[in-house]
Amino acid sequence: MFPTTRLRRLRTPVMKRMFSETKLSVDDLIAPLFVDENLTQPQPIPSMPGIQRETPKSVVDEAKELADLGIPALILFGIPKEKDETGSHAYGENDVVQNATRDIKAELGDDMMVITDLCLCEFTTHGHCGVVDYDTEEILNDPTLPILGKTAVSQARAGADMVAPSGMMDGMVASIRKALDQNSYSNIPIMSYAAKYSSSFYGPFRDAVDSGYAFGDRSTYQMDPANSNEAMREVEQDIKEGADIIMVKPALPYLDIIYRVKHEFNMPTAAYNVSGEYSMIKGAMDNGWLAEKAIIESLISIKRSGADVILTYFAKDVAINLIR
Ligand code: PBG
Repeated sequence: MFPTTRLRRLRTPVMKRMFSETKLSVDDLIAPLFVDENLTQPQPIPSMPGIQRETPKSVVDEAKELADLGIPALILFGIPKEKDETGSHAYGENDVVQNATRDIKAELGDDMMVITDLCLCEFTTHGHCGVVDYDTEEILNDPTLPILGKTAVSQARAGADMVAPSGMMDGMVASIRKALDQNSYSNIPIMSYAAKYSSSFYGPFRDAVDSGYAFGDRSTYQMDPANSNEAMREVEQDIKEGADIIMVKPALPYLDIIYRVKHEFNMPTAAYNVSGEYSMIKGAMDNGWLAEKAIIESLISIKRSGADVILTYFAKDVAINLIR
């Protein structure tokens, strides 16, 4: 009790250094990269200042820069030349993600872990994460599963170190695990976007990868932002199906979910600091409304809530900042 207890005694710079309860390290970061097969020059993404679509060539240079900064992993998103109704360019041997994976691994080997986002929305003409029945405008769950399995195998064959299914189809983790195991990729881990909410904070990303949808929205497969118990069921399900790492997405508006997931399941836990979270802070910073320190503060809050690793478009900024 005051005056015996004075909490301010520990608030000197050196004490803070020693007793900080949460530390953010370069090791905690996963950098998202966009590679666009149609480009010969990198192209800025207007809704995400500072982030660009890479060409099939420049993506390798960018990956090298990340590795030089000590960032351990990147997650690849591809924009194909051609889209079709079933997203068949998600799984060709020489499709955009497979080529980029192969090229990055050839250049960097163990210096960079390549995670491949595993979803159909960038590859389908309708922009949904699964096969569609046009008559009913329904996104079909079960017919999508074998395509996801096939895509996982093609990504592993190209050299992906880990696959990350993000389409929120029921049973996706089990199908992918089975497909990988049957093709001798039983050592490839799965990071599942387990509790992925139907969120407005993905807006800028959809510009970044041209995955706006032709009709409807994603609320028949992604989660209702109002629900927390349901997130525990999603996570429990994915663990049973064989997920190695569990992801919560978005991060900042869902810190309570990250906290619950970490404490109820004790699994390796990832959080996706999504495009809208990036653009909000970056936009305010560019206008002089927020100081750069807001980046670290928001990422620390994500770690404090229970995330082990963070997927963030700030990865490079943070790495440079933490090294400095
Ligand atoms: C697609 C996918 C999305 C993101 C990652 N994978 C968008 C969506 O579901 O619409 C969002 C990433 C971000 O906003 O940074 N399956």
